[in-house]
Amino acid sequence: MPPSSWSSPTRASLPHSWADRVGVSAFVSRIERFASVPSTQPIVRGWLDEGTPEVAIAVADEQTEGRGRLGRTWTAPPGAALLLSAGYRPLELAAGHAWRLAATASLAMLDAAEDVAGLRDGTLGLKWPNDIVADGPDGLLRKVAGVLGEAVLEGDVVTSAVVGTGVNADWAAHDFPAELASSMTSLRELSGGRPIDRDALLDAWLLRLEPRYEALRAGRFDAAGWSTRQRTTGHSVEVDGPGGRIVADAVGVDPESGALLTHGSDGTIRPIDSGDVTRCRVVNLPGLSLGSSRT
Ligand code: BTN
Repeated sequence: MPPSSWSSPTRASLPHSWADRVGVSAFVSRIERFASVPSTQPIVRGWLDEGTPEVAIAVADEQTEGRGRLGRTWTAPPGAALLLSAGYRPLELAAGHAWRLAATASLAMLDAAEDVAGLRDGTLGLKWPNDIVADGPDGLLRKVAGVLGEAVLEGDVVTSAVVGTGVNADWAAHDFPAELASSMTSLRELSGGRPIDRDALLDAWLLRLEPRYEALRAGRFDAAGWSTRQRTTGHSVEVDGPGGRIVADAVGVDPESGALLTHGSDGTIRPIDSGDVTRCRVVNLPGLSLGSSRT
């Protein structure tokens, strides 16, 4: 029996192109779409715990208890966002590199989103560690997508992981929540109001994810792609953590540890670990910029 939190999800019809991906490509072992669930994350965790092979994917039109990073919530109106979780069993991925799964999923989604929304290369970037962002009309960075990685470790290796991605896809600006409107955008808005086909975005993501994930399993991570797409590099950033707020110059990221690299006031390079960060805000641009929290 599945956990009671998602024991009665409403299954939606599965588009033909998705079904084609199971069996034809050894990459996707299972893919199910739900009309409404609390969160796709525990669904896929449950599948992995039952023994479902990778890559198992749950997609939802709506989540009633969507989860964000660091205990935040994640909300989107039904049908407006691509909401998915993917379950992996990466052989021999070091525990210290578990974060690379989320980075890999995010890089694949960034490329897929630019393609499906008809955006020119470079329209989208990353806000450390893996938020997908774009420049808003006011010049401030706005969040397009967020990624949540939840790994199970045994000793020094990752035995399984669920990586969830929420993309503000076919979401019109007039439906943005007032408290997030200045810090978010959607692919629909970035493409000038053109409707965004979430199924096409899912397909485009899977096509890009497969080679990236196979490379990761073989020990190759796209460190250059992950580093060069970081929009925070070269800016003064504010990072809120358990120890309080740090304001520092971001000088890059460390593809080995996944840390944000900042220039301390004493002249040393200070790495900030992803687990400690609640908000990262570019402050050398006018006004408030990045909105990743949905609390
Ligand atoms: C973030 O805080 O930026 C990460 C947001 C991740 C949201 C996605 S939506 C699909 C999956 N299911 C969830 O409950 N969360 C992730």
